[in-house]
Order: sequence, then C-alpha cells, then structure tokens
Amino acid sequence: MNSPIWNESFSVGHPVLDGQHKELLALCQQAADCVEDVSLEGAEHFHMLLNDLAVYAKKHFRTEEKILSQHSYPLLNEQKTEHEEYEVWLSETLLAAMDGNSDKADVHQFLSAWWVRHILESDMRYREFLSGINRKY
Ligand SMILES: [Fe+2]
Repeated sequence: MNSPIWNESFSVGHPVLDGQHKELLALCQQAADCVEDVSLEGAEHFHMLLNDLAVYAKKHFRTEEKILSQHSYPLLNEQKTEHEEYEVWLSETLLAAMDGNSDKADVHQFLSAWWVRHILESDMRYREFLSGINRKY
C-alpha cells in the first residue's frame, strides 16, 4: 500500500522538526506495510504501530509547541487545537483497534493524509516565521 515518503518539499526549515516529521511518515509507511497482512501477527503489529505513533506524535507536538511558544508564534493556539484533536482521534482509534473494530486500510489512509496535511499546510505556515527568527541571530 502506498504511503507518503518525506522529501525536501516537506521541509519546514528546522532540522529537529524535519527529523520528527520523517520519523512519523516512516511509522505511517510501516503501518501501510502491514495493512495487507491479515494474520493475527499483522493485526498486533498494526496495533503496536498505532501505539508508537501516539507516543511519537505526542513527543513531536510538545517539541513543536515549545519551539513555537519560545518565539511567540502568533498561530500557536490553532496549532495546539489541531494537535489536541489528533490526540483524541488517535486514542479513540487505538481503543477501536483493541476491540478489533477498525479497518486497517481506512486507518492508514486517514493517518497518512492527516500527517501530510499537518506538515504541508499547518506546519508550512511557521516555516517563513521561523526562518525570519533565525535571520535575526
Ligand atoms: Fe509538525
């Protein structure tokens, strides 16, 4: 199954945040790889990856919010709201997966689309802002 792969067009101009985005898309890729695996191991692996994505996403959001808040980014609240909505959705998805009520392909589709939108739309808004800050030092 296709999954988005990080490339330079995804760069937000910050090495730490770019590194985390790469890692998140790599986790989506791993989830895509087990969508077609209908074995019990495939289901367990998928569930494990959702857990990893929840943990890693939380780490990424806190890093992003810390950096943006340090520089008084004007759209920080919108960014935080989006992060919170994702965390709620992901924990609900994890619960559904535990009950065996989730379609792996649908979950993967939503996940990869969410991360692409997060990086290319929401995060790209601070790319210019952060590059202006860096030029001041
Ligand atoms: Fe991000």
